[in-house]
Amino acid sequence: MISKRFFGVAASVSFLVLSLIAQTVSADMVPPGTDDDIRARLQPFGNLCRAGEDCGQAAAVVASGPLSGEAVYNQFCVACHSAGVGGSPVLGDVDAWAPRLAQGMDTLWDHTLNGINAMPAKGTCMSCSDEELRGAMDYMVGQVEQ
Ligand code: HEC
Repeated sequence: MISKRFFGVAASVSFLVLSLIAQTVSADMVPPGTDDDIRARLQPFGNLCRAGEDCGQAAAVVASGPLSGEAVYNQFCVACHSAGVGGSPVLGDVDAWAPRLAQGMDTLWDHTLNGINAMPAKGTCMSCSDEELRGAMDYMVGQVEQ
C-alpha cells in the first residue's frame, strides 16, 4: 500500500523540479524593454568622460586645464599653511606674511619652487606646473595684500 507520506514526498519533489524548470525558463527570457533600455541598465555605475569624447550633457565634466591657485592651495598648501605647521606663515595672517613679502616676489617664488627649511619644494605638489604653483603663491599673497 502506498502511504500518505509517499504522496507528500512525491509532491514536493515534483514541485521542486517544476520550480527549477520555471527558473531556467525565465532566466532565458529576454527582459522587457528595447535594446537601448537593456544597454542603459547594463551600464557601469560611474562613467568617465575622457577629454575629446562626446559624453552628452549629463556626463560629469572632468576638470581640464590648469588648476586655479585656490584649488592648488586647498589640495596641497593647506596641509601646512592653514595651521602654521613647521613655522609656515598662516594664510591671511598679515603679521606672519609681512616679512615674507618684504623679501620680494622673486624670493617667494624661488622658495615656492625650491623650498626653504621645512617648506618642501613645490609645496609637495610635484605634479603642479609652474603656472599652477605661481597661482597658489599669488593666491596666498593675495590674502594678505591690501
Ligand atoms: C609640509 C608643509 C608645507 C606645505 C605642504 C607647503 N608649505 Fe609653504 N611653507 C612651509 C614652511 C614651514 C614655511 C616657512 C619656511 C621658512 O621660512 O622657514 C613655508 C613658507 C612658504 C612661503 C614663504 C617663503 C618665504 O620665502 O618666506 C611661501 C610663498 C610658501 N610657503 C608657499 C607654499 C605653497 C604655494 C604651497 C603649496 C603649493 C606650500 N607653501 C605648501 C611649509 C609648507
